[in-house]
Amino acid sequence: MVGDAFRHRVGVKPLEVAKWFVRDADWEPTLDMKRALIADRRHEVVSFRDDCHDVAQEAAELVLAWVGKSTSQTGVDALVDAALAVPDDLTVLRSVAAGDAEQLPFVAGVVCSPSRWRLADKIGQDMLAVHKPVALYAEHIGAAVDTTLTRLSPDKPVWRSNWTLEDHPALFQPHSPSEPLVEHPTELWIRIERETLRRLPQTRGILFTIRGFQEPLTTYVQRGTQAISTLRELVSRLPDSLARYKSVYDYRAATISWLDSLIA
Ligand code: HEM
Repeated sequence: MVGDAFRHRVGVKPLEVAKWFVRDADWEPTLDMKRALIADRRHEVVSFRDDCHDVAQEAAELVLAWVGKSTSQTGVDALVDAALAVPDDLTVLRSVAAGDAEQLPFVAGVVCSPSRWRLADKIGQDMLAVHKPVALYAEHIGAAVDTTLTRLSPDKPVWRSNWTLEDHPALFQPHSPSEPLVEHPTELWIRIERETLRRLPQTRGILFTIRGFQEPLTTYVQRGTQAISTLRELVSRLPDSLARYKSVYDYRAATISWLDSLIA
C-alpha cells in the first residue's frame, strides 16, 4: 500500500576515518564544478554567520589534514579552501550552551550540491528549522537527530545516507522546478547522498559533510533484481507528503510500473 509502513530513520553508523571521503572517478570533475561555482556564484554557495570563524577554521583544518594539505587562510575562508580539496559539501554547526542543554545552530556552509534547497535560507537555524520543508521530519526524527548531535563525540564519527529521485542530472540544484521536467521514468536520476558527522574537539562544534552521487535510473537498475525490488518498496512506501517533497509524486505510478516490468 502506498504510504504504509514508512518512517524516517536517523540511521547513523560508525565512520572509519580512513574512508571519510570517497575517492572515485567523479572526484576531480566535482572539484572543477565547485571551483567554477565558488568563482562565479560565491554568494549562492558560501554562506556564514559572523560567529562562525573559529569553528569553521577547525572544521577546515580537519578536512585539509585528511587530504594532506594546509591553508594560510583563516575562518570561513579556510572552510572554502577545504571545500575545494574534497568533492563533499561542508556545513558547520556551532555549539552554544543553553543552561544544561546544548544548541547547535548552523553557522557556516560551502554547499555546491544542494538538492533543491538554498544555503542562505538555512544559516543561523537549528535542526528543526533547517528541516522544516521535510515532511514528517519533526514527527519521526526531530528529537532523535538533536540527541544524536548532542551525544556526538570527537572519537566516534558517524555517517548516514539519503536517497531521492530527480528529473535533472545536475549536482547543483538550488531550486525545485514547478512542474515535471521529463516524461518517462527512464529519464530519471537517482541521487544518493552520503553524509558524515564529526564533533570538533577544540570548539565543540560539528562538521556535517554531504557528498551527492547522481546516477541515471537506467544504470541503477542494472544492479539487479534485489536493487530493483528495494527501490520499488522505497518508492511505494513513501507517504504522499514525502513523495511530493522528494519530487517522486508525479513519477510514482509510472516508476512502479516500469520497475515491475523489469522484474516480471
Ligand atoms: C543525524 C542527522 C541528520 C538526519 C537524520 C537528517 C535527516 C534528513 C532527512 C531525512 C532529510 C530529507 C532528505 C530526503 O528525504 O530527501 C534531510 C534534509 C536536509 N538536511 Fe538533514 N539530517 C541530519 C543532519 C543534518 C545537518 C547536521 C544538517 C546541517 C545543515 C542538515 C541539513 C539538511 C538540509 C539543508 C536538508 C534539505 C532541507 C530542505 O529541503 O529544505 N541535516 N535531512
